[in-house]
Amino acid sequence: IAARLADGPLKGRRIVVTSGPTHEPIDPVRYIANRSSGAQGTAIARALAALGAEVVFVTGPAQVAPPEGVTVHKVETARQMRDAALAALPADVVICAAAVADWRMAEEAASKIKKTRDGLPTLSFAENPDILAEISQMETGRPALVVGFAAETDDVEANATAKRARKGCDWIVANDVSPGTGIMGGAENAVTLISEEGAEAWPRMTKDRVARRIAEKIADALRAG
Ligand code: CTP
Ligand code: CA
Repeated sequence: IAARLADGPLKGRRIVVTSGPTHEPIDPVRYIANRSSGAQGTAIARALAALGAEVVFVTGPAQVAPPEGVTVHKVETARQMRDAALAALPADVVICAAAVADWRMAEEAASKIKKTRDGLPTLSFAENPDILAEISQMETGRPALVVGFAAETDDVEANATAKRARKGCDWIVANDVSPGTGIMGGAENAVTLISEEGAEAWPRMTKDRVARRIAEKIADALRAG
C-alpha cells in the first residue's frame, strides 16, 4: 500500500522512471533480453510516489508487479521504451533504471525461423537508442536531474564514472552484479552513488531501502536546487 503522501517533499514533482528489461524480437516466438527482474526500478517508483511525486513508470516485461499510485506504461522493446519516456516529458527528474537491450535484430523475421539441415542461423544486430544519453543531452527541456544506473561486473567505480561522463547524466547509481554477489534477482543491493561530487559507497541493504534513500536524496537535491 503506497498511498501518495499528500504533503510529501516531492509533492508537485513529476518523475519518469524506466524499469525492467526490454525484449527485442528475433521472430514471433523468440527474443533477446537482459536479465532484470525490475525490482529496483519498481522500488524506486514506489518510494518516489510515497514522498508525494507524480510518477510515470515506463516498464518492460518485468517479473514484479508495478507499484500502486503511479501511471504505468508497459512496453516491450527499447524503441517503445524511448518513445514512452520522451512522451512523458517534461519532467523534473528522469531515472533510467531499465536494463535496456543494447541491440535489436537488424531485421525481425515475420515468421518463425525453422531448423534446417543446411546450417545455423546468423543474427545481425542494429544498435538501440540510448534513452539515458538522449534525455541527458537534451538541449531544451532537459529535466533538472537525470539519474542512470550502471550494472557492472568489473572496475565498478571507474566504469561508472566514465559512463556518467559519456552519457551526460547527473548521477549514476553503480552496482557490482558479478555472479556470487547475489544481487541480480535478489532482494538486496550494494550501490555506489556517483555524482559531480565524487563517489559515495552505500552499505549493502535491501532494494527497498536503497530506493527510499535515493528518493530522499532526490527530494534534498530538488529542494536545494
Ligand atoms: N540505458 C538506456 N538506453 C540504452 C542503454 C542503457 O537508457 N539503450 C541506460 C540504462 O537504463 C542505465 C544506463 O543507461 O541507466 C547504463 O546502462 P548500461 O547498460 O550500464 O550502459 P551502456 O552505455 O549500455 O554500456 P555497456 O556497454 O556497459 O552495456
Ligand atoms: Ca548496456
